[in-house]
Amino acid sequence: MNPTASPVRRQLHPPPLPASPFPYHPGSLLSVSDLSLEGVSHILTRATALENADPLVRDRILAKRRVALLFYESSTRTRTSFELAAKGLGADTTLVSSLSSSIEKGESLKDTGLTLRALGAETIILRHSSSGAAWLLEAETRLPVLNAGDGMHEHPTQALLDLRTILAHLRQGLTTVTAETLAGVTVTIAGDILHSRVARSNMLLLPRLGARVLLCGPKELLPELAAQAGPGIVIEREFDAALRQSQAVMMLRIQAERLAGLQLDLEEYKANYQLTGPRLAAHAPTAVILHPGPIIRGLEVTAGVADGVQSAILEQVRNGVAIRMAVVERALTAAEQGGRA
Ligand code: CP
Repeated sequence: MNPTASPVRRQLHPPPLPASPFPYHPGSLLSVSDLSLEGVSHILTRATALENADPLVRDRILAKRRVALLFYESSTRTRTSFELAAKGLGADTTLVSSLSSSIEKGESLKDTGLTLRALGAETIILRHSSSGAAWLLEAETRLPVLNAGDGMHEHPTQALLDLRTILAHLRQGLTTVTAETLAGVTVTIAGDILHSRVARSNMLLLPRLGARVLLCGPKELLPELAAQAGPGIVIEREFDAALRQSQAVMMLRIQAERLAGLQLDLEEYKANYQLTGPRLAAHAPTAVILHPGPIIRGLEVTAGVADGVQSAILEQVRNGVAIRMAVVERALTAAEQGGRA
């Protein structure tokens, strides 16, 4: 007799993990490079449709589906917007954070992921301090995993919400994108590029739509090697010169938690790279200003710029909910729809 055939044995032993080639799940979003431009367009289009949908209709789309948020690093925007997005589609959510779970007792990422899967999680949204953690979690659980930031590596949903913000300002909110959509647009990314997963995901995405990306910062935070990251990426060390060429400017904070002893002269940094009102008025008076947050007011940007008319920082935050609704929906429906767009 087959020992797993009885209903009781089947209950005690969850079904074995399906064998599957890499990448394991069509609903996962581990890197922006996972997405074709058709896939990016699909997410942008669904984000707009879901944002405009009747909330009473929208919350039946993923009614009672189970979404786990697994956060090993602190977060305000990403965590809250993923949670609101999943709940807005009717899903049940649970948050596991490293500070209030058995992770504190030494439980591994693999065992935590398998535990969430056994509890019925159908997708896991992961933020982790180690680059590559989302790939490991996907490989071990075979669930759709959404990378909510892995170390200094990637933050794909941030790049998508940044793109939505840029398109709203420069392309009338276009949602179907091609390799020409951002032709003629220069985006400066300024500050701590070296430690920034936001910079990396944007550098992987924006040039594919035809944008030119200028990287700006001191050598300690922007190695020369970054210019070789791909086509359409150029280093411009002189901030005012970068601003003069830009239609969009993305400011980044110095990631103090990742500096590993590196000492910076902050007064010199501010003199060279702080985005101030006079600097903006003189060199980029019409550019849209972005920042993924958290902002350190008075360091990379002044309060006047953060709150000023050119700032789209809170729009980015709002766009996070719409983009993450589309991405969570994709995670839970991609397999049913026959694969990854
Ligand atoms: N942009 C971003 O990832 O912000 P949080 O760290 O607050 O999620």
